[in-house]
Amino acid sequence: MLAPMRAAAHVLAELEREIVVPGAGLDRLRLTPVPFVPEVRLHLAEDAIVWWARMEASVGRRLPPPYWASVWAGGQALARHLLDHPELAAGRRVLDLAAGSGLVAVAAALAGADRVEANDIDPYAVAAVTFNARANRVRVTTSGADLLDSVPAGVDLLVAGDVFYDRGMARRVLPFLHRAAAAGTDVLVGDPGRGHLPAHRLAVVADYPVPTTEPCVGSPVRRVQVLRAR
Ligand SMILES: C[S@@+](CC[C@H](N)C(=O)[O-])C[C@H]1O[C@@H](n2cnc3c(N)ncnc32)[C@H](O)[C@@H]1O
Repeated sequence: MLAPMRAAAHVLAELEREIVVPGAGLDRLRLTPVPFVPEVRLHLAEDAIVWWARMEASVGRRLPPPYWASVWAGGQALARHLLDHPELAAGRRVLDLAAGSGLVAVAAALAGADRVEANDIDPYAVAAVTFNARANRVRVTTSGADLLDSVPAGVDLLVAGDVFYDRGMARRVLPFLHRAAAAGTDVLVGDPGRGHLPAHRLAVVADYPVPTTEPCVGSPVRRVQVLRAR
């Protein structure tokens, strides 16, 4: 097994190859504007499942689902909210938890954050954030540690897009967000009404009509809330 630093460098190089090799097929990544946040461009898969299958075949091992290669409704609403209300992030230390592509981290940096860290346990997401920050000419640091059993320190604003997507994740994320809020961190979540969202533990601060990007959703627009942990 590769040591963590070497493994991270390896993943970074793998993803860089994917980004620099031009291609137009469904199995390619493409630098594309985010539908609800067109100020931000991200390296996204034309079809994340097809990209995932080709990558697994080419590297010869199982890879985590490439959540980072798609935009998520919760992340889009949260990023929109930060760009439309830059005072939430400006001059603050921001942590984007479960960052995926890093869309929310990039938006926080564009809104004038003092420093932004994007955290995700998927090393491909960590690498994608690096390339996406570069594509948007902002500075975002990254970390791949699992923070959910800790209390975040030195963070003024914690943002988390679409983190209530399954029961196991919701069970761990909610106490983490509340520990952060109790320690004085402003905590904002973006969520499209997923079943595992503990709505009674969060206060709605905004609601956005986000264009649907997920094939399983019938309507062209989805109502997505930005909520604050109380
Ligand atoms: C649905 S995606 C949301 C991505 C991004 N926040 C957005 O809104 O576009 C969920 C992300 O959570 C990450 N994740 C899962 N468990 C995690 C953990 N314990 N700590 C940090 N990230 C985690 C996954 O790797 C994935 O990138």
